[in-house]
Amino acid sequence: RLVAFAAIQGAYNIVSKVEGKFKEAMDKYGPNQPLEFPNTAYYLPIIYSILGIKVEKLADAEPVLERCKKLLPPHIKGRIHTPYLGGTLDAGMAAILAEEIFEAIRYVEDPDFYQPVEDPDVEAGKLWVGAADDTIMRKRGIEFVDGSAPGFAAIVGAAPDPETAKAIAEEYQKKNLYVFMCANQAGTTFTQQLLEAGVQIGWSTRLVPFGPDISAAVFALGFANRAAMAFGGVQPGDYRKILLYNKDRIFAFVNALGEVNAEWAANAAGAINWGFPTIADTDIPEILPTGICTYEHVVSSVPHSQICSRSIEVRGLKVTITEVPVPVSYGPAFEGERVRKDDVYLECGGGKTPCFELVRIAEMDAVEDGKVEVIGPDIKDVQPGSGLPLGVVVEVAGRKMQEDYEPILERQIHHLVNYAQGVMHIGQRDIAWYRIGKSAVEKGFTLEHIGKILHAKFHQDFGAIFDKCQVKIYTEEDKVKELLRVAQEMYRARDERIEGMTDETTEIYYSCTLCQSFAPTHVCVISPERTGLCGAYNWLDCKASYEINPTGPNQPIAKGETLDERYGNWKGVNEFVEKASRGAVSSYNFYSVVYDPMTTCGCCECVAAVLPMCNGVMTVNREYTGMTPCGMKFTTLAGTIGGGNVTPGFVGHSKYNITQRKFIAGDGGIKRLVWMPKMLKEEIRERLIKRGEEIGIPNFIDMIATEEQGVTEDEILPFLQEVGHPALSMEPIL
Ligand code: SF4
Ligand code: NI
Ligand code: NI
Repeated sequence: RLVAFAAIQGAYNIVSKVEGKFKEAMDKYGPNQPLEFPNTAYYLPIIYSILGIKVEKLADAEPVLERCKKLLPPHIKGRIHTPYLGGTLDAGMAAILAEEIFEAIRYVEDPDFYQPVEDPDVEAGKLWVGAADDTIMRKRGIEFVDGSAPGFAAIVGAAPDPETAKAIAEEYQKKNLYVFMCANQAGTTFTQQLLEAGVQIGWSTRLVPFGPDISAAVFALGFANRAAMAFGGVQPGDYRKILLYNKDRIFAFVNALGEVNAEWAANAAGAINWGFPTIADTDIPEILPTGICTYEHVVSSVPHSQICSRSIEVRGLKVTITEVPVPVSYGPAFEGERVRKDDVYLECGGGKTPCFELVRIAEMDAVEDGKVEVIGPDIKDVQPGSGLPLGVVVEVAGRKMQEDYEPILERQIHHLVNYAQGVMHIGQRDIAWYRIGKSAVEKGFTLEHIGKILHAKFHQDFGAIFDKCQVKIYTEEDKVKELLRVAQEMYRARDERIEGMTDETTEIYYSCTLCQSFAPTHVCVISPERTGLCGAYNWLDCKASYEINPTGPNQPIAKGETLDERYGNWKGVNEFVEKASRGAVSSYNFYSVVYDPMTTCGCCECVAAVLPMCNGVMTVNREYTGMTPCGMKFTTLAGTIGGGNVTPGFVGHSKYNITQRKFIAGDGGIKRLVWMPKMLKEEIRERLIKRGEEIGIPNFIDMIATEEQGVTEDEILPFLQEVGHPALSMEPIL
């Protein structure tokens, strides 16, 4: 019982501290002061998900604090009422809800305290990332759903020394877990210890420095709840489902490092509501009354060498590590690490030496499975800081292998090589760039290992479409240059093949229902000239994905009778969509934003919207956070139309789709495009210029307004008139 006292006492302390802070803020900023985490449609996500309350301004926090006080177990005759399980859990929840308000007030008081970035700026001393915005959420949250990250370890406090911190962090990285860091132990943080040990931190290495105080724990729990809402389709306010989703789907736990005070105990009790146990390195008394639960909520005095394995065991997490025969750690947590210039042992490509990679189909008897040859000097033959030409040629053979799969396998090389710790890979094809760090070389990494990685991973992930694979790694300048020309010829032929495909001459389209987990009625149908709206799937990808996994989310659809050529409507597609959306959507058009456009889900790269006054269409990409001429920011647009319904006037699409010939063809095509963010224009500049030439308006790119001309229809119309934008003289859009 003693224990639970600590947790409840801690919760009392936290709630009263936040109340004080709240009153102070009300006096200073007034009730209408906006209160929010930056760039999110989820308000203060724990409060929103658990209580269903949308906190938008300071005054909205008041009823939340009232709820917190009600959740605290009552004092009876000056003593805290005997705590049973429910009381302690409620106290923990009160603490967490109050802390979320505390952190939101911090955003008001000290707007620079948290950096809204993926990776902190260590040199500038800006370490703490705070609440993840919706962009990070989309990108990272999905990993918790698709299994590429099984869960996270919330590390509270600090290890005894930097080396121990590093060992713990790396063990979790190897197991693909995220490490969410908060709180300090007598002023020392786990984050700073990692930096001292030379470890790279940030979202990209899965070591996320949320904040230096215990209250930053809310960023981890809020992240988990947003995943439940965004990807699990759980409704805000349905706290039972939110918590259950976390218990069943997000494998998380807390590691308390160092002395556990009352406030930490309150947070640990709070986390138990989520099903997240606490595993500590010190001797802490039970936070909950014992003998009630079927599994351990709190485990004390675990030695550092065992804390990772013990935590995983307690949380009941099955971790499958893919064995790849390389002497360095390997996994997605190492994908985002950089190899800095001074740490480079060997560098290939990057404009300094010729470098390319190529996957090509070969005859069965020409391939010896697993063979890796390095032809030319290897790492042992060069000095630290050297460069070498590099050609990576992978030959695959098998009865099911087709030329169409070559680019799909080839595109994997980037992340597969990047997964190796101490190895960096950028680009693809003939702009590939490799950096192999000194630390990797010290551990015995050689060029041969690149081949070993590709052989092992290709078999693991694509075993269904080929039987044998061998890798040749060339490093002699003449040979690399000679093969580079061959490779470039193949890249060109491939591009022509897919770009040459048209919807008219293709009878089979593909479905994608991957996003139904969070937009249950959403069905993407992908044709050669309409890439999936998330940008991740084109027609060829879907075809390959179907061959690899015939019962998976990509199914072939015979498009059948053409019902409307202009807007892109087919009988077979409609029938499929009706079935796959369980009757919710019975028909949609491929080539229109105005009339019955395709459904959209929240992960679209861009949203297009009709601008009636300009007689045209605008589009906005996810990364652009500013206002747009349709009166909504991207987050609002995606939130409004991203639920899987047909929304006339709005449609989600990929960046690539903008320059595909069929882009809103029924509404007049790309000539209708009157506004887009500058950053998007720059990103697709080359293709946009080419497309302008195709439609006979070579300077079309310069006619599209950006935020530089304005962010309302009124502001951009004079510009469109001045440049003579073609949309203005087209038939009325509505
Ligand atoms: Fe598939 Fe469409 Fe989701 Fe992309 S947006 S993953 S294509 S359902
Ligand atoms: Ni790497
Ligand atoms: Ni989606």
